[in-house]
Amino acid sequence: MKWIASAAFGMEGMTGRDLKHLGMGNVRVLDVGGAEFEGGFADAFRANLWLRTCDRIMLVMAQFEAKTYEALFQGVKAIEWEKLLPEDAGFPIRAKCVKSQLMSPSDVQKIAKRAMVERMKSAYGSDWFSETGAVFQVDVSIRNDVVTVALDTSGEPLSKRGYRTWNGEAPLRETLAAARVLLSGWHPGQPLYDPCCGTGTILIEAAFIALNRAPGLTRKFAMEAWPCVPHEELEAIRAEARKKFEEGRKRPLNIAGSDINPEAIELAQRHVKQAGLAGRIGLSVKDMRDVMPGTDVSAEEKGVFIANPPYGERLDNIRAAHAVAKQLGALQRRFPGWKLCAFSADMGFEKEYGRRATRRRRYYNGRIECEYRIFE
Ligand SMILES: C[S@@+](CC[C@H](N)C(=O)[O-])C[C@H]1O[C@@H](n2cnc3c(N)ncnc32)[C@H](O)[C@@H]1O
Repeated sequence: MKWIASAAFGMEGMTGRDLKHLGMGNVRVLDVGGAEFEGGFADAFRANLWLRTCDRIMLVMAQFEAKTYEALFQGVKAIEWEKLLPEDAGFPIRAKCVKSQLMSPSDVQKIAKRAMVERMKSAYGSDWFSETGAVFQVDVSIRNDVVTVALDTSGEPLSKRGYRTWNGEAPLRETLAAARVLLSGWHPGQPLYDPCCGTGTILIEAAFIALNRAPGLTRKFAMEAWPCVPHEELEAIRAEARKKFEEGRKRPLNIAGSDINPEAIELAQRHVKQAGLAGRIGLSVKDMRDVMPGTDVSAEEKGVFIANPPYGERLDNIRAAHAVAKQLGALQRRFPGWKLCAFSADMGFEKEYGRRATRRRRYYNGRIECEYRIFE
């Protein structure tokens, strides 16, 4: 079967690398939208459980050209839905159209639904479907007149790991936080410190990486409710991941963070606990101007700061973002030999920071253009 690991713009290569690392077959990085791979249900489950930077794992049911609604209808109806969907399956449809003749998502959604119902009617000899059983979310996306029909195996996006139940002022998506940690060049064992950690997402994702904790370990995926998957095999894969974490959690961890806002630190403490990491991550209320070598962070070992400072994407908070950029520059100067990685939408960041970044990478957080800057 062919699968797509969908990922945000700019994260396609990283998703492809992670899939190869998991041993998936025929991995192909897409220009937009993620990476493809081949395998069975168990492989898709492993991808759901272990991929840190992608949003969903989709099962590709068909790909065909359609410039008319008739072609779309026939293409969707030709799919052997009954092979996977039981008679009582729920099959909601979401549609997306980009640069195509068919550009109305609501019409595409309606036609695809009608085509599926027609197929199910002839397969099950029934003309009424209760849709009260397991949910098979169908995704119909049309790009350059090519339709991809896929089933969402993940359910809630993979950024939802299950540990974050409260949001701070500008929470960071877990998948983005994990990507920033992986791109930073930090290696587990080295100290890692987030001087404006908010609700603790970067710290928790780094700890998961260091302790070999599968990001999806404690959450459920939509495919687990499907009758067609090999349930025992999936349970064995989850049990193996649990064992890996049991072993991994014995490793030493040198991860800590602080934030000027006491409420954010309270939330971070709750999240750390919910992530099963109570007592493993140092947290304190502190202005980053007061983070000092020796007291908060090791003075001898060289480590990495990773920061998601206030964004500065709106005029009213650009001044605050500039001030924080300046403070981050001063922080790195207090810690010779430490690397500092920061991402924000503030394009004046480097000027305020006081030097040019060694490396930078552009990406989008939603519609906001941002830069991830690494200062060696
Ligand atoms: C974009 S949020 C970080 C969100 C965080 N990554 C999360 O996942 O929740 C920016 C954080 O910087 C903190 N902050 C702003 N100025 C600060 C300062 N001078 N020292 C420490 N923290 C500061 C804010 O309180 C806020 O929590």
